[in-house]
This record gives sequence, C-alpha cells and structure tokens, in this order.
Amino acid sequence: MNPTRPVQFGIIGVGRIAANAFAPALAAATNAELSAAASRELARAQALKPPRAYGSYDELLDDDDVEVVYIGTHNGLHRSLAVAAFERGKHVLCEKPLACDAAECAEMVAAARQHSRHLAEAFMYRHHPSIAEARRLVLDGAIGELRTVEGTFSFRLEKLDDVRLNPAWGGGGLLDVGCYCVNACRYFFDGMPERVTGLGLFHPEHDVDMALHGVLEFPQRRFGVISCGFDGGRRNRIVLCGTHGTLTLPSGFGVSNRAVSIVLEAGEDRREITFEPQDVYRLQIEDFARAVRGSQPLLPPDDGWRNARVMDALLASARAGGTPQTLEPRDEI
Ligand SMILES: NC(=O)c1ccc[n+]([C@@H]2O[C@H](COP(=O)([O-])OP(=O)(O)OC[C@H]3O[C@@H](n4cnc5c(N)ncnc54)[C@H](OP(=O)(O)O)[C@@H]3O)[C@@H](O)[C@H]2O)c1
Repeated sequence: MNPTRPVQFGIIGVGRIAANAFAPALAAATNAELSAAASRELARAQALKPPRAYGSYDELLDDDDVEVVYIGTHNGLHRSLAVAAFERGKHVLCEKPLACDAAECAEMVAAARQHSRHLAEAFMYRHHPSIAEARRLVLDGAIGELRTVEGTFSFRLEKLDDVRLNPAWGGGGLLDVGCYCVNACRYFFDGMPERVTGLGLFHPEHDVDMALHGVLEFPQRRFGVISCGFDGGRRNRIVLCGTHGTLTLPSGFGVSNRAVSIVLEAGEDRREITFEPQDVYRLQIEDFARAVRGSQPLLPPDDGWRNARVMDALLASARAGGTPQTLEPRDEI
C-alpha cells in the first residue's frame, strides 16, 4: 500500500450517525477518504456517493481496496462484522459501544491481534482538545486531588421500534449513552473501578434499561457517579470534583462542531477556558488513519473491553436490585 495515499475507508451500515456525522467528517479528513459504502438498501449506500456502493455488507468486506471498515450498524452486529473484517485483513473503527458485552469485545480484540490490525472504539468526544486539557488540569492539581467524576447523559427515546430498544442487539441506555459516562470515569481516574453498584428502570416489554444510575468505586475511595438513559429530558455533562475545586464540562460528550468551554472553580477563582468549534468525528478519523500508516491510535484496542466489563457489572447489579458487583482485578485480555 502506498504510504502517502489517503487511507481508504469503507462504511458499513448507513444509519443516522454514519450518514449525518461520519461520512461528512470523512469527506473533510486530510489523510483518509471514502472508498466504498454498504447498506442493506443499495440506494442508501449510493446516497453517500462513494466510488463503489454495495447492497450487502459482505461485498464491502470482500473489497480489496478498503483498508478500514467503519462499523456504523446497531450494536448487535459490531462483533461479527469486526471479526469478519479482521479475517479479510482490514482495520476496524467501530461505533460505540464496541460490542454488546465484554465477552464479545474480547473476541474482537483477539481477532485484531491475531491479524495484526488496529481496532478502536469510536468515542469521538475523546478527540476534543477540551478533554485532554481537562485531564491536564487535573494532573497539574488545579482542583487538588480528584475525588469524584460525575457523568450524565440522557434524552427521551419515543420511537418504540428503535434499534436501541432491542435487547438482542445490545439495546438499553447504559450501552447507548452510559458508555460515555463510564468511559469518562475511567479516563479521568486513569484506571478501573473495583466495585460498582447500579440501580435501574427496565422497560416492561423490551427488558432494556431505560434509566440507569450507578456508583463506581475506584481505589482510594474515589467515586464515579453516572446517570444515564432514555426516559428523561436532555442531560449531557461531566463534572470533576477535587479536594480544592471543581472542573465542569457543561457540554459533556456533545462537543462536536460547537464552541466548547470548560469551567474551573477553585476557592474564589473562576476561570472559563473556551475552545473553537472542532469536528471530533474528523479528528477521530484522522487519528485512526495515522495509526493505519504506522502510529498508535488514541484509544487502545482493549479500552472498549474494559468499558464493557464495567457496564456488564453495572447491569448485573441493577438487575439484582442494586447488589454491588466486584470486578476481578484483571486488566489484560
Ligand atoms: N459516535 C456517535 O456520536 C454516535 C451517535 C449515535 C449512535 N452511535 C452508534 O452508532 C451505531 C448506529 O447508531 P445509529 O443511531 O446510526 O442507528 P440507526 O440510525 O438505527 O442505524 C443503524 C443501522 O444499522 C444497520 N442495520 C443492520 N441490520 C439492521 C436491522 N435488522 N435493523 C435495523 N438496522 C439495521 C442499518 O444500516 P443499513 O440499513 O444501511 O444497512 C441501520 O441504518 C450504534 O452502535 C450507536 O451506538 C454513535
């Protein structure tokens, strides 16, 4: 492969996120381009105007020109499509959550390693400079010792035939939006919780979590507090509380293409740091494309597995009515 050629991406599944955020970001990327798109409906793939459009996912997987498969389908297909892509020698950038549970994620990571290919979970918010700046401020002691990370993400889901209500396809609010909150707790504490407790409201027919509230206990009595789901108004926010101050990220995980501020309050001081609008989907694509040409992606392949381990435990706790779940101190697949 020509190392100066833009990395060739194939999009599988032309749903909301693929069509409205990922494809435009790919068109704007400096080191990557759309090579092919596949949808169950050929016309949907054609609408992205790729050099080659397919009416089945297998045809794209068999396309030798595609170097990276971006998986934009519902969660229930992430594992099987990723494994199939690795077997054909492709790299995989997969929508969040990486898969339906930790066992599926482990299978994906193993396949990526077996075929020496990159795998990353598409947590676009992590590519925003405000997130790295917030972490830098925490590490510099701007709010003292970090004690609590709060992540909230919710909205009201009205459509009862939405893929996110299908339990067999990794439905539920925790996997859909709570995955961001769990990711933020792990990122800012730079580790894994030892124990988690979840309480939830489950849909009476679909049996997926419509609301989930959880406490993640990190070493040294530091806590992640998450609240997420489909059953309320819009909330999207991260708050980092330290022994001597608070850092608030009022845009939470919704940081793309808008001016973003973070607010540092310590003692009598209040400082607002503002960032120019950034397309984090483009930054994510460019990061992954650089990895394909030889660097390392921002998110390591097993990060999604770690996130899924925490979510599995939170769901087990919520299903057991709030019984705390201890996570095995296992950090390697
Ligand atoms: N990073 C982000 O900001 C972000 C935001 C929202 C969602 N997501 C993630 O992106 C993925 C897709 O979410 P979305 O909101 O784009 O969902 P969506 O609009 O419902 O799209 C899901 C796609 O899955 C494919 N699919 C394959 N088999 C299907 C079936 N039997 N029924 C329905 N769809 C089927 C379809 O693609 P074709 O019909 O084209 O084959 C469909 O368009 C999920 O993993 C979600 O968690 C990420």
